[in-house]
Amino acid sequence: QPRVFSGVQPTGNLHLGNYLGAIIKFVALQHEHECLYCVVDMHAITVPQDPQELTRTIREVAAAFIASGVDPKKNIIFNQSQVSAHAELAWILNCTARIGWLNRMTQFKEKAGKDRENASVGLYVYPVLMAADILAYKATHVPVGEDQKQHLELARDIAQKFNNDFSASIARHGYGEAFFPQPEPLIQGAATRVMSLRDGSKKMSKSDPSDASRINLTDDADAIAAKVRKAKTDPEPLPSETAGLEARPEAENLVGIYAALGGISKQDVLNDFGGGQFSAFKNALVELAVTKLGPIGAEMKRLVADPGSIDKILGDGAERADAIARPNLAAVKDIVGFVRR
Ligand code: TYM
Repeated sequence: QPRVFSGVQPTGNLHLGNYLGAIIKFVALQHEHECLYCVVDMHAITVPQDPQELTRTIREVAAAFIASGVDPKKNIIFNQSQVSAHAELAWILNCTARIGWLNRMTQFKEKAGKDRENASVGLYVYPVLMAADILAYKATHVPVGEDQKQHLELARDIAQKFNNDFSASIARHGYGEAFFPQPEPLIQGAATRVMSLRDGSKKMSKSDPSDASRINLTDDADAIAAKVRKAKTDPEPLPSETAGLEARPEAENLVGIYAALGGISKQDVLNDFGGGQFSAFKNALVELAVTKLGPIGAEMKRLVADPGSIDKILGDGAERADAIARPNLAAVKDIVGFVRR
């Protein structure tokens, strides 16, 4: 049975990359599959967070899901810390994952920076908690941006090693050959890696000190227009074929954003704008971005003004998530050989 799981960190500044790389796909998948969409607050605290700001951003991410069109009745929207299976399974999987595997994680190296000795232990085992998020539900499909690819590969390796290490016990308990499925990353579309508007070689990111580098989901029309108009470009006109975007990262990025927002291909965009100057294309991009993102930002602001309603949605989601994860965790404990209550 296909099951979709994905998570977004409540670390502030939700941006166009989060929307096009992940959230827009959450919306599309809800029509065909059972979907769980998680605000991963336990991942957020792997780096220091202001507690009051964390509370606010947890609700803001939930609001972003809903404002973007994820139906909280049809899907399970919840925050990670309310379902204890994530932490419990993460511990068991910490004992499956190998230190050598974690040492290869590029995101840890980036986030820990030069002062690696001083990074939290949580930041180091972050990808194991992520594997636990997915495997607690035996999720089969994980919509994410390109930057999560390596973490997904690790989750697959952990699932496989657990299945191998405990194969006899898994069979003895009647689960057949394998207990965990191999979760498949869904990294699709024209904008799986949205780049900074100021520098086409850098990913658009929540932590970039320059606010002009990203379009935040809560930006108003004026801010969106100003950022798109100021976005870095090169002096050449747009090409008429996608091959002409190679080695032109800024042009490729803006064309990809337009395509993903409009639900068309990059070639479609170039059919309309190829040969033309950036200024005309940017005007069209401003119009499209404001049309698509304006209502989402407005709805997010409306929703976060009523935290009680969001907390109710998160609580209800947590109960439904727990109902799926709890029996899976119990089975894992049996397989490992723990004595249960
Ligand atoms: P996070 O919170 O950094 O980002 C949330 C989602 O947005 C995608 N994304 C991007 N996509 C395209 N271009 C960008 N510039 C860009 N920046 C971010 C991310 O790929 C992600 O899909 N580790 C995850 C959260 C997580 C998770 C999980 C995801 C925790 N547990 C289980 C899937 C399944 C993260 O830090 O995402």
